Amino acid sequence: MSSAVAAPASHSVPAIRVPIALEERSYDILIGSTLLDDAASWQDLPRAAAALIVSNETVAPLYLERLRQRLASQYARVDSVILPDGEQHKDWDSLNRIVDHLLARAADRKTVLFALGGGVIGDMTGFAAAIYMRGVPFVQVPTTLLAQVDSSVGGKTAINHPRGKNMIGAFYQPARVIADMDTLDTLPPRELVAGLAEVIKYGPIADAAFLDWIETNLDALLARDKSALAHAVKRSCEIKAWVVGQDERETGLRAILNFGHTFGHAIETGLGYGEWLHGEAVGCGMVLASDLSVRLGLMPPEFLTRMRGLIQRAGLPVRAPRLGVERYLELMRVDKKNEGGEIRFVVIEALGRAGMRGAPDTLVAEVLNAHCD
Ligand SMILES: NC(=O)c1ccc[n+]([C@@H]2O[C@H](COP(=O)([O-])OP(=O)(O)OC[C@H]3O[C@@H](n4cnc5c(N)ncnc54)[C@H](O)[C@@H]3O)[C@@H](O)[C@H]2O)c1
Ligand SMILES: [Zn+2]
Repeated sequence: MSSAVAAPASHSVPAIRVPIALEERSYDILIGSTLLDDAASWQDLPRAAAALIVSNETVAPLYLERLRQRLASQYARVDSVILPDGEQHKDWDSLNRIVDHLLARAADRKTVLFALGGGVIGDMTGFAAAIYMRGVPFVQVPTTLLAQVDSSVGGKTAINHPRGKNMIGAFYQPARVIADMDTLDTLPPRELVAGLAEVIKYGPIADAAFLDWIETNLDALLARDKSALAHAVKRSCEIKAWVVGQDERETGLRAILNFGHTFGHAIETGLGYGEWLHGEAVGCGMVLASDLSVRLGLMPPEFLTRMRGLIQRAGLPVRAPRLGVERYLELMRVDKKNEGGEIRFVVIEALGRAGMRGAPDTLVAEVLNAHCD
């Protein structure tokens, strides 16, 4: 018998380091609890006279002061820009506020930007860092599960344009990612669950054993058990880094990270942005994409049953909104992945392996009819 005593769900977990090897753009992802207050996580960051923390009105009251104190010992000046909260503010105005602040303070090209928040703050801060004086270092401090497992890894930064999401941006890697599991304590339950959709995604596309692990540990994840969350974040980051490492600029393989996203984006756009969270649409989209994989003869029917069961148990929607088959097809035809008019889907070819396939509209219609309310 092991003598280890089961720790309470809120116990702290030692920091895990996931190195991201991208030659001169290599960096570390640190994952654990109490990282915000742990000096070791913040050592050896790029040196500069000044640091600028970018956050929003929701996250700043929760964590800004702690981060500021942590950075005060390393940077002579630590400023902050607090942006309004929400995807609708991922725009030129917010980006301008960051750049204006840097210029008003005559920030030099060594100034380090810190993104404290979810994916919206991370994407905007990363883009500001990419363009200010042709590039200053930045550090991601992701505070949503989605940002920890997805948006803070891979180097995509962007703002939205009224004509399209993430249409203006750059590939730009951070100097470090510091994912403190304790920040998830304050995350609204719906946001936590939405982040779980992206975690679940990594299993079928890349790691069958991870899918087993998620099924076994789902209750712990939902209860915000720190070591379960840290493992989920670690494995998700490793898989995303592995995929991105082979295809940094999305010419091929990287598209498999969009499992469930073709259907998911159609749901998001069809309902109007903000109705369902992105992760909710992706959760449901994975049910549809799993069914498509079955109907294409790639996977046995049990695979759909398994995926739907897990997605439902996570608290994600498994029934798609009734937008009408024609509307779905129309929405999916504008997807960036398409070639020559045929809609391309990420499908599962074997547990832990994904590929891209076109599918006839009639088959897609069968899938939609089977899962729409
Ligand atoms: N760069 C990429 O590769 C990539 C990948 C996936 C998604 N994204 C982008 O990420 C964005 C979505 O990110 P998100 O889901 O983190 O949304 P978000 O940044 O809007 O955060 C969700 C909500 O949670 C709040 N919040 C954040 N941390 C909190 C905390 N610890 N406690 C309490 N509330 C907290 C936020 O203020 C916000 O209201 C989208 O803009 C999407 O385009 C980018
Ligand atoms: Zn996604």
